Amino acid sequence: MDSSKRKSQQRLTSKQIKIAPSILAADFGRLGEEVTRAQEAGADLIHIDVMDGRFVPNITMGPLVVEAIAKVAAIPLDVHLMIVEPDRFLRRFAESGADSISVHIEASTHLHSVLGQIKEAGCRAGVALNPHTPASALQDILDDVDMINVMTVNPGFGGQSFISGMTRKLRTLRAMVAGRDIEIEVDGGINAETLSSAMKAGADIAIAGTCIFQHKKGIAAGIAELRRAAALAIANDDP
Ligand code: DX5
Ligand code: ZN
Repeated sequence: MDSSKRKSQQRLTSKQIKIAPSILAADFGRLGEEVTRAQEAGADLIHIDVMDGRFVPNITMGPLVVEAIAKVAAIPLDVHLMIVEPDRFLRRFAESGADSISVHIEASTHLHSVLGQIKEAGCRAGVALNPHTPASALQDILDDVDMINVMTVNPGFGGQSFISGMTRKLRTLRAMVAGRDIEIEVDGGINAETLSSAMKAGADIAIAGTCIFQHKKGIAAGIAELRRAAALAIANDDP
């Protein structure tokens, strides 16, 4: 067995992947109920996609929505800022109840400073990478990062297809963060089919919207399906 295969097995057998439902695909008219359902079905964190119509061609929600979700959620709120000049809004999101805040490297001229501000505000600091941004862009900032969000679609919309070439970037990042307390998220196009390759490539947290909130049998069934796929990926990878 080659060493990369052995490493991948160690990772898969030693820990279960976390599931972070993305509320972008939820019914916004019943957001509180949907978050509660996801939480009761065993979600590990709630992923909140903030879009400004400038960094991405879509507008979603702001700190007021995070504040409303914080009132019903007991699990951590993971805020993904797809906005320009994220430093202008960090404190607002932290005060609204965010536990972790990720900014896009492509939107952050002074990333080191921004990550420091996120931590000062009491949150875990994350960096998100668009599909074209190489893993190496993070090489000199790893000491300051708690989470890395690897976008496996072009950000802006839910329901897109997983870009399979991103698994190479996931593997590169997994090797880069070895020995550090950094979690790697995979975001976009995750479902029962794509989850396994993301896990094998080294993802710690699977962010999924459509396959959970739009599941024809409901939110709990969507999460259960992902858990089954994760268990299968582990079983198939065992010697
Ligand atoms: C895309 C968002 C993702 C997205 C995931 O810009 O960052 O979090 O909502 O949704 P699905 O699972 O539908 O791809
Ligand atoms: Zn996201």
